[in-house]
Amino acid sequence: MRDLYILGIESSCDETAAAVVRSGEHVESNVVFSQIATHQPYGGVVPELASREHLRGILPVVRQALTEAHRTYEDIDAIAVTQGPGLAGALLVGVTYAKALAWGLGKPLIAVNHLEGHIHAVLLEEKQKGNRELGFPVLALVVSGGHTHLFLAQERAAGGGRATWAYQNVGQTRDDAAGEAFDKVAKLLALGYPGGPIIEKLAPHGNARAVEFGRARMKARGKVRGKKPRGVEPGAARFDFSFSGIKTAVLREVERRDMKPAIEARRATLAKLTRPTADQILAACDRETLDLAASFQRSVVDDLVSKTLAAARALEVETLFVTGGVAANFALRAEFEHQAGSEGLAVYFPSRQLSTDNAAMIAAAAYPKLLAEEFAAPEFSAEASLPLR
Ligand code: KG4
Ligand code: ZN
Repeated sequence: MRDLYILGIESSCDETAAAVVRSGEHVESNVVFSQIATHQPYGGVVPELASREHLRGILPVVRQALTEAHRTYEDIDAIAVTQGPGLAGALLVGVTYAKALAWGLGKPLIAVNHLEGHIHAVLLEEKQKGNRELGFPVLALVVSGGHTHLFLAQERAAGGGRATWAYQNVGQTRDDAAGEAFDKVAKLLALGYPGGPIIEKLAPHGNARAVEFGRARMKARGKVRGKKPRGVEPGAARFDFSFSGIKTAVLREVERRDMKPAIEARRATLAKLTRPTADQILAACDRETLDLAASFQRSVVDDLVSKTLAAARALEVETLFVTGGVAANFALRAEFEHQAGSEGLAVYFPSRQLSTDNAAMIAAAAYPKLLAEEFAAPEFSAEASLPLR
């Protein structure tokens, strides 16, 4: 079969991204324009600023992706775009641009769910390594700044004798996403933004056993839904997470230890630096802060790993995917590998580069849809709370 080129476009949050992927597995280019510097002063993503930055970034990013792939608009077989979930205004920039481009070029347009993109980031790289024998069903933990979801993924027959993937949501956070907890705790401790990578760098310098945060105890609530069960019966117990409690527990610890003056002093020190390095942030941290950061990370990692493995056992899966921005975390990877390995469960992560938002994963997720000719309807639009099915 001839090579097929997909131009992927991603604009769901604070990354404007475009990529060219050949035949679903060869990344010809992967351009990510990060807005971190824009949002840094606010300690979180400001939706209006995100939309404005996407508008500024989208054209140059797409052009750069084509140039780096040595392709022209004419060489592209299809355009894939993130339809949702994400920030409504941010998504609209990508969707509107992709629609106009597809219309103008007379090329097919494929709508991709951002969460499916994160899952296909893993698949894309496994294919590159020659691993084409995944045991289904796959349990996928998508853990990022906006999401902490568990999906049971199966292959489903699609058009033209092809297969696409089908998903059943078997658990998710009931409040904050895990990445959001990293970001909020980093903001509370005046460590900067985004919190995940900073806390990850500080954690090895602190004592992860210094503070014992109680486990989020989840009352059994909610049942797996879905008209056509694929592996899990509707009505089965869900595997939910909660991360708002630990954020409050960190705040309580800050108050109990009277850490506020030190935090404000750090905030003032770091505010004088344009983009503080990890070493500069580390130098501005006292022992209590490092212990708190290390203990927080350990608690979140333990919770993610133990709940995901409980779901894997109950659902009797052989394959686990861990993906999304927080999957870049070394401590999380090590713990998953250690614990899943001892249970004979195969666990796969994307490379760190493909863990956080990018468009290569969107183009990769679109490939089975291109083969099955599952194209977006002309009237399709961005959907901020798009479910994955
Ligand atoms: O997937 P992503 O780029 O965007 C969303 O879809 O949300 O994930 C960004 C999130 C942020 O909350 C960030 O703090 C977190 O992922 N993150 C990390 C790490 N790198 C990024 N969290 C923990 N450890 C990391 N190394
Ligand atoms: Zn994401």
